[in-house]
Amino acid sequence: MAKAKTKKKSLVKVGPKTVLPFDKYAFYHEAVQSPDADVEFYEKAFKEIHKNKKLTTLREDFCAAGAISCEWVKLNKNYKSCGLDLDPEPMAYGREHYFPKLTKEEQGRAVLIQKNVLEKNLPVADMVAAVNFSYCLFKKREELKQYFENVYKSLNGPGLFITDIFGGSQCGDAIEDRHKFKNFTYYWDQKGFDPVSAEGLFQIHFRHKGTKYENVFTYDWRMWTIPELKELMLEAGFEDIKVYWEGTNKKGGGSGIFKQVEKGEPCLSWIAYVIGVKNK
Ligand SMILES: C[S@@+](CC[C@H](N)C(=O)[O-])C[C@H]1O[C@@H](n2cnc3c(N)ncnc32)[C@H](O)[C@@H]1O
Repeated sequence: MAKAKTKKKSLVKVGPKTVLPFDKYAFYHEAVQSPDADVEFYEKAFKEIHKNKKLTTLREDFCAAGAISCEWVKLNKNYKSCGLDLDPEPMAYGREHYFPKLTKEEQGRAVLIQKNVLEKNLPVADMVAAVNFSYCLFKKREELKQYFENVYKSLNGPGLFITDIFGGSQCGDAIEDRHKFKNFTYYWDQKGFDPVSAEGLFQIHFRHKGTKYENVFTYDWRMWTIPELKELMLEAGFEDIKVYWEGTNKKGGGSGIFKQVEKGEPCLSWIAYVIGVKNK
């Protein structure tokens, strides 16, 4: 979410003469999501880490409109997905806009369920993805640990828990990042960061046809660090943690290619995956 990642294709198809109405979920999707590339990365990481385990089910926690759940079932005719979110509104959007782009058979392998991820007995999966930093809304260590324990218990034998994280010196600054897209402008507004609580407030605005829509999405987050996530995942039961760091393109931006590392590198802004590994 801190920066637009490399995109291959978008679920939002826009013809040359199409005039889009203001649609916060479509704009969000185009500006910050790359679910097609994301699911390919998850599959690759799973095959790299669990060479002998058959992979079938992905659960997408904090799924919102379920873009990742929809992409997952397109990858393989045996794959199933299940998205969980508290809020029925984005899920209804996904059922109306993303599901119809799947074949009937693919639709039968994907489901979105209204559920709190802090509840016990979450739907079982081989792999759980909680991305776009959504777990940062849990600000207390005990709360985040409870969530991680829930995930561990819901993994079906050897499995993976995929989270992402962003950081870098720029993340502590009050700055507004702007990206122009064909039909709208996207603003990532970092309102500020409190070093005492490690909390930050972030907002997404859009400009569309001359009108600026302010605070369309607001994120009041604790900025967890990679060592904190690793420690909490280990305490929750994960036997190993892998960190995948994003490479750099020729212009100095993110390449969209993530590789396993033991060490990162200091920079203005970075994104990484922190993956909890369950071995048994
Ligand atoms: C940042 S958005 C989701 C982003 C989405 N995962 C993506 O890839 O862009 C966070 C979502 O988490 C949901 N949410 C917040 N607390 C939750 C909880 N305890 N259980 C399940 N969903 C929750 C919100 O309703 C919201 O849709």
